[in-house]
Amino acid sequence: MARRKLHHYQFNEGADNVIQAGKPLYSGIKGKWNELYFENSNPIVVELACGKGEYTVGLGKVFSDKNFVGMDIKGDRIARGSALASELNLTNVAFLRGGIQYSHEFFEEKELSEIWLIHPDPQVRDRDENKRLTNPTFLEKYAGFLKTKGIFCLKTDSSFLFEYSLDSLAKCGHFNILEFTDDLYQSQLLDEHFGVKTHYEGIFTSKGHTIKYIKAEVVNMH
Ligand SMILES: C[S@@+](CC[C@H](N)C(=O)[O-])C[C@H]1O[C@@H](n2cnc3c(N)ncnc32)[C@H](O)[C@@H]1O
Repeated sequence: MARRKLHHYQFNEGADNVIQAGKPLYSGIKGKWNELYFENSNPIVVELACGKGEYTVGLGKVFSDKNFVGMDIKGDRIARGSALASELNLTNVAFLRGGIQYSHEFFEEKELSEIWLIHPDPQVRDRDENKRLTNPTFLEKYAGFLKTKGIFCLKTDSSFLFEYSLDSLAKCGHFNILEFTDDLYQSQLLDEHFGVKTHYEGIFTSKGHTIKYIKAEVVNMH
């Protein structure tokens, strides 16, 4: 393992707010986030593909009455969010290292109140649709994890992913699209983001890309 990767792996090993392979909670957390990790009954919000976890930490600061879990496959990115959450003493924030395709191993049906997906890779090639995080298979999973009326939010700079996701959400039959905009920064919906800007959003906005946003709720699932 490269030295930098090893450093982050070891950091995550010692971080109480990171759950990753090899730790006791990794195989027993499904359905038990409230009981075993947060030790309260507050609603759980998951940020998928969280990168450095700006939303997980940012919203965690704003909503002390909700629990936040940032999930990503990359340990070095999660380590950044974990360190910041510890520095800020955010006991309502955790990070999970894992692939979203295996998220059913970590979240129980109806366990979550909200899922945020912020600037996932658009995966524009047809042959990569299976990796696109708003494809019908992923949406079916997310709808299952969410409570009735649970919220799913997507932010992207990609017009392709925005259009694809609107279509995918409408067709899958489990979601009702509540709000959407193809220019979040010119929309009142920006208030729902509490000034949180992720690493990738900083890159996209500095290049002049507009940010698109979709908010949907679960219906017809359970
Ligand atoms: C473009 S980055 C966005 C990161 C962050 N949300 C932001 O806005 O700065 C996409 C992230 O998705 C993660 N990712 C992609 N596919 C994933 C998967 N199947 N499971 C977990 N994480 C994944 C990558 O590791 C990466 O951190």
